[in-house]
This record gives sequence, C-alpha cells and structure tokens, in this order.
Amino acid sequence: MADPRPALKVAVLLSGRGSNFRALAEACGAPDYPAEIVLAISNRGDAAGLGIAADFAIPATVIDHTGFDDRAAFEAALTEAIEAAGAELVCLAGFMRLLTSEFTDRWRDRLINIHPSLLPAFRGLDTHARALEAGVRFAGCTVHFVRPDMDDGPIIVQAAVPIRADDTPEDLAARVLAQEHRCYPLAVRWIAEGRVRVSGATVRVEAAEAPDSALINPR
Ligand code: GRF
Repeated sequence: MADPRPALKVAVLLSGRGSNFRALAEACGAPDYPAEIVLAISNRGDAAGLGIAADFAIPATVIDHTGFDDRAAFEAALTEAIEAAGAELVCLAGFMRLLTSEFTDRWRDRLINIHPSLLPAFRGLDTHARALEAGVRFAGCTVHFVRPDMDDGPIIVQAAVPIRADDTPEDLAARVLAQEHRCYPLAVRWIAEGRVRVSGATVRVEAAEAPDSALINPR
C-alpha cells in the first residue's frame, strides 16, 4: 500500500563537491522515495554542489559565513533559510563549518551528518590517510544524528569496506564514497518513513535487520 505520509522536506548543507547531495537528489527522484529536497545551502559561492542543485532544479542559496560577525549570526541565517523552506530534516553533506551547540540543539534529532569513517574511530579530517597509517583492516562511513561535539552522535547506519594492502588514501576514499552514496539515501528514507528512534546514544531502525555474515580481512 502506498505510504500516506507527505514527502519529508529536507534541506542539504554543503561546502564543496556535493556528491552526497547528488546521491540524495537522485534518490528523491524515484517516485516511491519518501523525501524531497526543498533547499540546498552552501557556505561557499564556488561549491560544485551548487551546479548539482541547478541540474536537479532544487532551490539553492549561498550563505557565506565570511559575511557574518560571528557563528551565532551565521547560524541564525542558516536556521532562517531552513525554516523558510519548510525543511523538517537537515542533512550535512560535506558542510565544512563547525556548528555550535545552540544550532545542534535547535535541530536536535532533525540534523544528520555523513562522515567517512567508522565512528567513533577517526573523527575529523584526513580519515583515510589516518586509517591506513593506523593499520586497521576496515574503513567505512557513518550516518549519524549530530550532537555538539564534532562527528559525535547516535549512529543510524554504517558501511564497512575492507582495506587492501596497497591502498592509497585516494583508493580508499573512492571505495568508501561509493558506500556513502548508498548509506545517506537509506538513512533519509528510514527517517522519512518514521522508522528511526533515538534512545540516548543509540538508534533503533524498525524492520531493518543486521546482516548474518561477517567479513574477515585478510582472508
Ligand atoms: C564526504 O566524504 C563526507 O563523508 C564528508 O565530506 C565528504 C563530502 O563529499 N563529510 P561530497 O561533497 O558529498 O562529495
């Protein structure tokens, strides 16, 4: 039976390339997808992601952080634009600004991020180079609700990818990015379907099971 809910209205915040924004926009193009992107916001006028908004006819705006006296004023402008667009969920997709607790509290449990590591390992930047240096056998990505601390918050979904002996950071980034483009649309779908419950530090996704199999690396 068709889901009677109206499509969840989503705002996407980005700063650069926008490949995760594109993955979300493509997902939203499917007739049965339960979300729609009502606004893309970039803090940089030169972000390639703005061209993706044009490709998909998604309203987009630049809110340049350098034009504000402080973070509070910048974030107030973000909130005003998000609210004016009627967005119910905010997706950070390569948005390269730290957010204050005022903003993350304002959007608590309605603000999600994608990060290119298996959190809580490798918060911050250069995750792939750091994973290779640490010698871990798996890398991956995480979609999580945003809390005041950077790259912290209840985890919705993760994908693990094996690290190969001769991987460069670029090889690994490409392998992880392919999984990011699967995970972000899944997380937004589940939220839009009302299947995601946050309880303290953890998240339960109704009717989504853990896989039976394990990966061992190297074999
Ligand atoms: C992605 O790796 C994402 O996980 C991280 O920033 C990168 C953004 O890439 N937060 P893109 O702009 O979505 O292509």
